[in-house]
Amino acid sequence: MNPDDSTAVFFQSVSKSFGAKEVLHEVSFNVAAGEALCILGRSGTGKSVTLKLIIALLRPDAGKIWIEQDEITTLKTEELSRVRRKIGFLFQDAALFDSFTLYENLSLPLARLTSKSQEEIDSMVVKVLREVGLAADKKTMPSQLSGGMRKRAGLARALVLEPKILLADEPVSGLDRITASEIDELLLQQKTERQTTLIMVTHDVHGARRVGDRFVVFDHGHLVAYGTAAEVESSDNETARQLISLSS
Ligand SMILES: Nc1ncnc2c1ncn2[C@@H]1O[C@H](COP(=O)(O)OP(=O)(O)OP(=O)(O)O)[C@@H](O)[C@H]1O
Ligand SMILES: [Mg+2]
Repeated sequence: MNPDDSTAVFFQSVSKSFGAKEVLHEVSFNVAAGEALCILGRSGTGKSVTLKLIIALLRPDAGKIWIEQDEITTLKTEELSRVRRKIGFLFQDAALFDSFTLYENLSLPLARLTSKSQEEIDSMVVKVLREVGLAADKKTMPSQLSGGMRKRAGLARALVLEPKILLADEPVSGLDRITASEIDELLLQQKTERQTTLIMVTHDVHGARRVGDRFVVFDHGHLVAYGTAAEVESSDNETARQLISLSS
């Protein structure tokens, strides 16, 4: 397998350990531009680590990682910033700046990283906040938001720069079913209307099957299944079959 013109993210034999603990062992997968990949796996199997490797918050011990045509494991800081600009990241814990209002959390990256006017920034922030159902909370501080609202605020911040590639770490965990399906729809809309490449870690198999085109399953550091829902369902790996099963 090699990256080609349609590649958004490509892992080639990526391994990552922390001390003596090997979290990922020679993991390879390809995500085509515009595709939605869902990463499934039990807790502690390296799903969040995988997303952090994509944005180069962590570096692999071995293997190569391509973002489109750039192999990022050898890139210098400035080059890496250029590649990172293509990527939006919803962290598992939302990672908002606690001393800034919601409006500031969204407008600061736009002011810092784009040449947009104040009016343009204003309308983009308002639009994204409306999309995630937080239009009334422009002036709210992150500490005053509920867990679910923080999640949606984190998603708004990931979306406001209109990334080509969106990484979402458990975007619906802790949300009620109705809000969760609204978030799933929003993610799906990003994919269908903006052709955003989506890589989502989730424990919610219903949402995963609604949004995902393809799935990878991690277990004990290994990628144990990779393919469409139907392919993972008929995998010979039992953990993979259980995780993709709608009755789980
Ligand atoms: N910066 C780090 N330093 C040391 N160990 C780490 C670090 N980040 C992750 N790990 C370890 O790597 C393993 C995988 O962590 P990761 O966060 O990727 O799990 P996960 O699959 O996202 O789990 P969950 O579903 O609970 O979020 C865990 O054992 C974790 O303790
Ligand atoms: Mg995680």
